[in-house]
Amino acid sequence: MIELFRAHIIDVPGDPLRGTAGLRAIEDGALAIDAGRIIDLGNYTELTARFPQAMQHDWSGATLLPGMIDIHVHFPQLPVIGSMGLPLLSWLSERTLPAEAALDNEAAARDAARRFLRSLAANGTTGALVFGSHIAAAQEAFFQEAADSGLRICSGLALGDRELPAPLLRSADQCYRESRELIKRWHNKRGVRYALTPRFSVSCSEAVLEVCGALMREQRDLLFQSHINENQDEIALVRRQFPWADDYFATYERYGLTGRCSVYAHNLHPAPDECERMAAAQVAVAHCPSSNAFLGSGSFPMQQHLKCGMRFAVASDVGGGTGFSLFKEGLAAYEMQRQRDDGVALDPAALLYLVTGAPAAILGMGDHVGSLDPGMLADFVIVAPASDGTLAAVLDAVTTPEQRLGALFTLAREECIAATYVGGREIYRRSG
Ligand code: GUN
Ligand code: ZN
Repeated sequence: MIELFRAHIIDVPGDPLRGTAGLRAIEDGALAIDAGRIIDLGNYTELTARFPQAMQHDWSGATLLPGMIDIHVHFPQLPVIGSMGLPLLSWLSERTLPAEAALDNEAAARDAARRFLRSLAANGTTGALVFGSHIAAAQEAFFQEAADSGLRICSGLALGDRELPAPLLRSADQCYRESRELIKRWHNKRGVRYALTPRFSVSCSEAVLEVCGALMREQRDLLFQSHINENQDEIALVRRQFPWADDYFATYERYGLTGRCSVYAHNLHPAPDECERMAAAQVAVAHCPSSNAFLGSGSFPMQQHLKCGMRFAVASDVGGGTGFSLFKEGLAAYEMQRQRDDGVALDPAALLYLVTGAPAAILGMGDHVGSLDPGMLADFVIVAPASDGTLAAVLDAVTTPEQRLGALFTLAREECIAATYVGGREIYRRSG
């Protein structure tokens, strides 16, 4: 059955940062979907005439955007959001890792997974690359809940054999066996994909990184995720732990942890040549601006990433990040670039691209999701603010789609997401 969704429609079919396209916007438009795919979009009156039998969903006045995709967010860290006052390494050891150790029983892990997945959907996020738990049973519960959620989830067991609290430590051999078992159970099963997930070089001996390389060779289509160059103390520690490595990336490079589906979070302080090698290795970067500001880690050299041709997208990094809203992260990215002498002049089209088309391409899903092109899977979000709030007042005054989108990035948050659809199926509806 064909369905028609009436709303103001905005997406970004190309890459505005590299000049291939800007906004596509249809005031009082409609999106036609059938069997979970987009079959048409255009003016509401014209589409109604073209599909007179279609079932109508009237979201007139609201804005319909492609589903947002978060390429760096930690499943066990929802309760850590807002834990103030510490830089990265002490934030990890005093607040975050102890909280992650609490997922040591199935009920706690399942409850955490449900709340986490619901928070993604409630913020208009339809897909995510999720940093998992170090505890295999908790990660198994997460995968089960992810498969049931309808979201497009890539995730994996977090790995480390040092610099972690005892309940999270695993030997290199355990890392290998537990990862291999979860890969067998979940990679490309029930809509889930597996991402190999060494936490960061700080917590991984060479034996663990070696095991990761072996797993990547055994199963070539795995995704990969880790952290890099986030904080100066962290970088100095890596230098002491790996005296043979010229820089942080070299600690991953040696073990073959590179390639088009590899995502490194942060990269705020790359060494000379490091960005160029990362770009040549075709890895991508998750830029997490609210986390970088919250933890005082530094600011993102976006211009440098653009110049060396590195792919990047904006992500939340919950719980270092200050929430799940990718609108908020877009605003934080915009503000961070405004502060830099070499800052990239981001506009609303670039921000939307950085949370839709860019992350979709990085996760190898750019042919299916990330824009509203006919033929794409019907992943989209309806944004409708309360009628008596500031955002509604601003939207009443806008005269262009750019202004509309700028207002959404600046003011729309979780409470403005009216509904979230994945593959044409409603997976979240705001109550009330
Ligand atoms: N580096 C290693 N683990 C983490 C984490 O959980 N959050 C952030 N922001 N950086 C990390
Ligand atoms: Zn992170």
